[in-house]
Amino acid sequence: MFKKIITVSFVFIILINNYLRADEGMWIPLLLQKYNIEDMQKKGFKLTAEDIYSINKASMKDAVMIFGGGCTAELISDKGLIITNHHCGFSQIQDHSSLEHDYLTDGFWAKTPKDELRNPGLTVTFLVSMEDVTNQVLAGVEDDGEEGVRQKMIAQNIEKIVAQAIKGTHFQGEVKSFFYGNQYFLFVQEEYKDVRLVGAPPSAIGKFGGDTDNWMWPRHTGDFSLFRIYADKDNKPAEYSEENVPYKPKKHFSISVKGVQPDDFTMVFGYPGSTEQYLTSYAVDMIQNKINPYRIEIRQNIIDIMLEDMEKNPAVRIQYADKHASVSNAWKKWIGENNGLERLDAVNVKKQREAALTQWINQEDSRQQLYSYILPEFEKIYADYAQYSFAEEYFFEAVWRMESVKMAGRMKYLIEKGSEFTTEDVDKIRNSAKSFFKDYNIETDKKIFKALLSLYLKNVDTKFQPDFTKFIKSKYLPLTESEKLDEYVDYYFEKSFFLHEDKLMAFFDTYAKADYKKLENAPAYLFYKNFVNMYVTQIMPVVKSYDEKITNLNRFYMRALTMADTSKVFYPDANFTLRVTYGKVADYEPRDGVRYKHYTTLDGIIEKDNPDIYDYRVPQRLKDLYSAREYGIYAENGELHTCFIGTNHTTGGNSGSPVLNANGELIGVNFDRCWEGTMSDIMYDPAQCRNIALDIRYALFLIDKFAGAGYLLDEMSIVK
Ligand code: ARG
Ligand code: GLU
Repeated sequence: MFKKIITVSFVFIILINNYLRADEGMWIPLLLQKYNIEDMQKKGFKLTAEDIYSINKASMKDAVMIFGGGCTAELISDKGLIITNHHCGFSQIQDHSSLEHDYLTDGFWAKTPKDELRNPGLTVTFLVSMEDVTNQVLAGVEDDGEEGVRQKMIAQNIEKIVAQAIKGTHFQGEVKSFFYGNQYFLFVQEEYKDVRLVGAPPSAIGKFGGDTDNWMWPRHTGDFSLFRIYADKDNKPAEYSEENVPYKPKKHFSISVKGVQPDDFTMVFGYPGSTEQYLTSYAVDMIQNKINPYRIEIRQNIIDIMLEDMEKNPAVRIQYADKHASVSNAWKKWIGENNGLERLDAVNVKKQREAALTQWINQEDSRQQLYSYILPEFEKIYADYAQYSFAEEYFFEAVWRMESVKMAGRMKYLIEKGSEFTTEDVDKIRNSAKSFFKDYNIETDKKIFKALLSLYLKNVDTKFQPDFTKFIKSKYLPLTESEKLDEYVDYYFEKSFFLHEDKLMAFFDTYAKADYKKLENAPAYLFYKNFVNMYVTQIMPVVKSYDEKITNLNRFYMRALTMADTSKVFYPDANFTLRVTYGKVADYEPRDGVRYKHYTTLDGIIEKDNPDIYDYRVPQRLKDLYSAREYGIYAENGELHTCFIGTNHTTGGNSGSPVLNANGELIGVNFDRCWEGTMSDIMYDPAQCRNIALDIRYALFLIDKFAGAGYLLDEMSIVK
């Protein structure tokens, strides 16, 4: 009863404090005026909160977009030209690449608008406006009600709010939870669907250092690509059409070629995906000690196999380039994250904070009534939850990554149609299969399948292993023996005819009434079906019910944390909504006796040059430009800066985000974090956490001098 009263009138973020904060935090644009702008200006920012976010005039938010499903991009011309990372545009660049037109290797530059390449499915999304809708979302929702019931009501309320907000417009709407359901914001968005590829450097530049340098400093990656947004003649979103014209933005960023100095103010404005700053010690312990080590091991296996096959065969290199990059990215991050958590002694730090919180709770009866059950309850839950969470993670990391299993999943559609199918149904799956085979190498898949299955059998409790005996002939038992496993894998790949393109296409040519049974009986489908069934019955329901309990507890825990420290302004975890993070250009000391500079230069690329190592092959043209020192206006004291680092608190999703100076001019494009600081998703350390930005001057130099695409610079607003 009492709880209910406090929530509805619960004011979440509390006091503005004046003490100097560390550069931690991902701030809500709408609330900058209230909580941050003074601090930002004290740190050097020269503009106002309205310049960043406004619904009354053009502001920076009108120049920043979600790019595709998980990156950020920003406008850099009044003709709809946008810049993002090379790794964000990578799958599009790969899609347009073949052995004949290998844009991955050679780069791509559209000479005229006509040469720009369309990308079906690629969208960019603008934020039109945002609004606190907490009261509407929680209307009629009992604060201490059962979580499942609450969530249902909340979903209903959200549906109404969104419908109301976008009524009569072409906008999209979305409501997201902040501070674990203590606050809700509505986001009205506008999505453009005709986004064309304009330019990309060769991978030897855009991915220079590859996965060897990924997540590391010093870094020399020219990680950018250029796209252009097209609109209909009224400047509105439209499907691709030759009639479409370049989008006319409300605002685009000016580009500064003045460079950066240590301690300069910097700000990153983009879409951080997800962080977990307020986890309890129990949760951190589970991630660090139970989940991460196994995720790392699984992916290590996949990576080793992919790399081996990619080294041997250039066609496989193209097919698996994107897959390899995405598997190895999180793998390496988790290794860094675990190192960082260990170094910070994160579990114990959290334990100390929990002890302090408990002390605060015990000071007053009313607090005890509200909060004292929370931490003991967390402890109890995680003690059992960990095994389910582990099994779920294993299912997604191992089983769900098997390509044959993904293919089996595609066959499900036809199997469910049974004998009642149409030719369209068959064509649909045929097309989907064709796109699958474009990037599929069965030998690679087979090796990965074997490695992952054997890990699964070894590491996952038998209660989470489907009853193999039902569908694998007894001769393959026990499957844990390597020889038996080999036999089974051979059988699996041979008999799963839908993994062979020629066989499958011939099969579809004559597809008839009872043929779905052949799909259904293929070993890969049986495998898929049994595993999914096990997951859906044995793991998912338990995880879901624990998740509900945890969600509920987190909501009250978060409240307790904020009530206990009213002098602090809390920031919400990242949730792929637009955020501002600000800090300064800064070097750091990764270990005793070593200090990393805040920037790198082209000299470092030449230093790393090694024709024998794929990741370090420097294009001849870049070497020539280096020898001639042909840097033009992009040089600083005779050097060409390539990347720089700062204390901005960023995470995945911030890739492609604009890095801005005190005047709001573009000085860089965010693309990574330094390895020693990758635990910042869970615990930020001002001494170690650094974001990595491409120095915008390196991008301009590449467009101008390397690619000879200087005509693109003519449409940009460059501040000298
Ligand atoms: N680590 C960066 C991010 O998380 C870059 C990833 C792409 N680069 C790569 N070598 N895989 O997205
Ligand atoms: N590369 C990341 C991305 O794609 C950004 C690096 C990070 O996680 O901070 O969003």
